[in-house]
Amino acid sequence: MKMPDDAPFPGGGRYGEAFFRPEQAGEGERIDFGALAYDDITMARLRALGAGPGWRCLDVGAGTGTVSGRLLGEAGVTSVLAVDRDVRFLAERSVPGLEVLEADIAAPGFATGLRGPFHLVHARFVLMHLPDRERLIAALAGLVAPGGVLVLSDAVDLTSDRAPGTPYTAAMRAMWQGLGATIGTDVSWVPSYPQLLRGAGLGSVAAEIHVPPLLPRSALSRFWAETWERSREAMIATGLVDDAGVDAAVRYLESEECAALSAGMLTAWGRKPGGSPR
Ligand SMILES: C[S@@+](CC[C@H](N)C(=O)[O-])C[C@H]1O[C@@H](n2cnc3c(N)ncnc32)[C@H](O)[C@@H]1O
Repeated sequence: MKMPDDAPFPGGGRYGEAFFRPEQAGEGERIDFGALAYDDITMARLRALGAGPGWRCLDVGAGTGTVSGRLLGEAGVTSVLAVDRDVRFLAERSVPGLEVLEADIAAPGFATGLRGPFHLVHARFVLMHLPDRERLIAALAGLVAPGGVLVLSDAVDLTSDRAPGTPYTAAMRAMWQGLGATIGTDVSWVPSYPQLLRGAGLGSVAAEIHVPPLLPRSALSRFWAETWERSREAMIATGLVDDAGVDAAVRYLESEECAALSAGMLTAWGRKPGGSPR
């Protein structure tokens, strides 16, 4: 596990370098399993918030671009700027209205370099992996046009000290702890999103949580199994599981014995005071 010297995280790693490397076989597929589990919920929320014809959108940490593509194809928005630290998956997606930009959104001055403002700024499963979240949220809020919305989605961990002692619970705990220690992933502050959006000057703030069912052979089960496979080294380093424990958790996910709650997706949004979004 190679850690760059200037990395800002506790363990010295960054998303996409120590873990979840886009060049590793199957990484696009892993992101797509997550997208399959959550895209319909995301699209329903974005459309309810008004995403439609005339909207210029920014999709931050766009991954394989499933949401960007559906905003254009289904919601009929006018344009989407899809930004990611590595755009190899986005480059494969050719949709009219889609513009792709390779950039590190955590870099100072990232937001000032963009041609905003946008009617929608969207970031899903990204900020939880990055440091300095308050600064990032304020910067993203600054890119929203008057009347437009900032929509943030990230994971909420639903394991508690009462969670049953299954292989799944052990693996989930080890994953959150291991990713925190290595690349700085931290979902503990995700429930604070509504207050953070309010603090960034946005109004009409609200949030919801969706927990898809964890069924054997579902996209969601495959997403977690792939995620554990990629973060196995960090999980084992916590001492909470060993190799056999990770294997047992994957088998448990695939079995009819599985009786567990997935991590949920919290989506929070806030609207920039001022004119109509169009
Ligand atoms: C878990 S994936 C989520 C992808 C997509 N938003 C989705 O929900 O399907 C996280 C994405 O954020 C990108 N990412 C992570 N850190 C980033 C950074 N500092 N700047 C830009 N993109 C980043 C990763 O490359 C990856 O594509």
